[in-house]
Amino acid sequence: MSKPAFIAVAAVTLDGRIAAYRGQNTDWTRKEDKQFLRKFLDKCDVVLVGRTTYRVAYAPLSKRNCIVLTSRVKTVFKKSPLAFFCNPKAVDLLALIKRLGYKQVAVLGGQKVYSYCLEKGLLDELFLTIEPLIFGRGLNLLEIKKLPRQRVNLLSFKRLNSKGSALLHYRLTKK
Ligand SMILES: NC(=O)c1ccc[n+]([C@@H]2O[C@H](COP(=O)([O-])OP(=O)(O)OC[C@H]3O[C@@H](n4cnc5c(N)ncnc54)[C@H](OP(=O)(O)O)[C@@H]3O)[C@@H](O)[C@H]2O)c1
Repeated sequence: MSKPAFIAVAAVTLDGRIAAYRGQNTDWTRKEDKQFLRKFLDKCDVVLVGRTTYRVAYAPLSKRNCIVLTSRVKTVFKKSPLAFFCNPKAVDLLALIKRLGYKQVAVLGGQKVYSYCLEKGLLDELFLTIEPLIFGRGLNLLEIKKLPRQRVNLLSFKRLNSKGSALLHYRLTKK
């Protein structure tokens, strides 16, 4: 069976932050980005998130198939009809996703989950919205730790609105 596609989607500020503080929601993104995100998630089979992001965005995420990464379960636990809680230290995440029959995985973050997927060589694509605003503090897209070098090709660029929000679509390639 071929590898499911892992497609990350993130909104960042001009200074590269996904949140001003851990636990902040994404009410700072523009409606055009929210529309894009909803349509994108509709096309995916499952959303991969960390426990913090799942908690912060519980209302919309509880209506979608989710795999929630957490160290609080021993292996994998069906938390609700749509959500599995999974400890990737004890479970082969890729094998689980294949077993569940998911072909397109939306990697919704946060920072720890983007970093985990990059570290494990799982990421195939990235949709990055850049919002023209500066937090001046907060969480970077990726954790500051040693991650593998990765070459990234820009596939498309779109201006989302007159405010200057921009959507970039990248493909990740090996080295
Ligand atoms: N701007 C955007 O596009 C965007 C997107 C997503 C999230 N966010 C924001 O980012 C913030 C959350 O980011 P975050 O990095 O703090 O949290 P996160 O990645 O959503 O969740 C972190 C938690 O998930 C679990 N986890 C993640 N990776 C794991 C792994 N490899 N193995 C085991 N457990 C793992 C751990 O929970 P346990 O303690 O249960 O082990 C960890 O504390 C929120 O403010 C959210 O709104 C922004």
